[in-house]
Amino acid sequence: MRLALIGFGNIATTLLGLMADTKLHLEHLTVLVLEEQVEEIRSRLDRSFAGLADSLEVVTDATALLATRPGLVVECAGHGAVAAHVPSVLRAGTSVVLVSIGALADAALEKDLRAAARDGSARLILPSGAIGGIDLLAALGVAGGLSVRYRGTKPPRAWLGTPAETLLDLPGLQEPKTFFTGTAREAARDYPKNANVAATLALAGAGFDATAVELVADPAASGNIHEYRVASPLARYSIRIENQPSAGNAKTSVTTVYSVLREIRNHIGPVAI
Ligand SMILES: NC(=O)c1ccc[n+]([C@@H]2O[C@H](COP(=O)([O-])OP(=O)(O)OC[C@H]3O[C@@H](n4cnc5c(N)ncnc54)[C@H](O)[C@@H]3O)[C@@H](O)[C@H]2O)c1
Repeated sequence: MRLALIGFGNIATTLLGLMADTKLHLEHLTVLVLEEQVEEIRSRLDRSFAGLADSLEVVTDATALLATRPGLVVECAGHGAVAAHVPSVLRAGTSVVLVSIGALADAALEKDLRAAARDGSARLILPSGAIGGIDLLAALGVAGGLSVRYRGTKPPRAWLGTPAETLLDLPGLQEPKTFFTGTAREAARDYPKNANVAATLALAGAGFDATAVELVADPAASGNIHEYRVASPLARYSIRIENQPSAGNAKTSVTTVYSVLREIRNHIGPVAI
């Protein structure tokens, strides 16, 4: 398989480690990085992941990435990178697993990405990420009449660097506090680095403006807890997932990386599940 990654941060490096552990060997690996990161990342790739692929390449734009003829591209860089690179990759006919799903809360960008996938006959693949049950939600969504309520709870340190810092005394918090209630679109706008789960639920189910979101800081939470309740005319269910944060980034649940690995395995394996 010829694989390309956009971004080389926590998710990308953990993913490559998992691929090495599961003996998933690549014909070619391309990594798209920022100009100033090229040398450092090239040497990190050579040092830690040389055995993973027959050949490795570091590039800084979508044209160079496409020239390496990837069979699948995984975006794991952030909202800016989605807007800058993903539409042209899709328009060129290459499918993209998009991890920064919160970027689709920008209605104009969502429209452009959908149009680009159609134009290029490519697929924009949205992994379930940190959460599960997306298969059932997306199936029920077709019938309409959905009510989806999501609560995201993380330890106070995971909310550092977000507006929660100005609403709560995060380091001194003694009990769980809800600091945000609103729609998935508002959550994605105000907490872009934490709103991927809300965005995934919104896209699979009732949409950004009809998915209710509550965000909580809890000093007793050992990891990231995602809970949601679905009511539809066809079924009702609720899910609670307690995820461990990934080693490199407290905001990212480690299951996210496994869900991206699942998309890659489904892309190349004889059976997709
Ligand atoms: N879908 C989900 O459930 C889910 C869960 C967790 C994280 N995420 C999202 O995944 C993305 C990556 O997360 P992470 O933990 O690996 O973050 P990270 O900050 O560790 O890594 C991102 C990397 O991308 C690089 N980057 C930024 N802009 C770039 C650009 N334009 N071109 C190339 N590289 C660029 C950064 O320098 C950094 O090295 C984030 O957008 C995050 O919000 C999604």
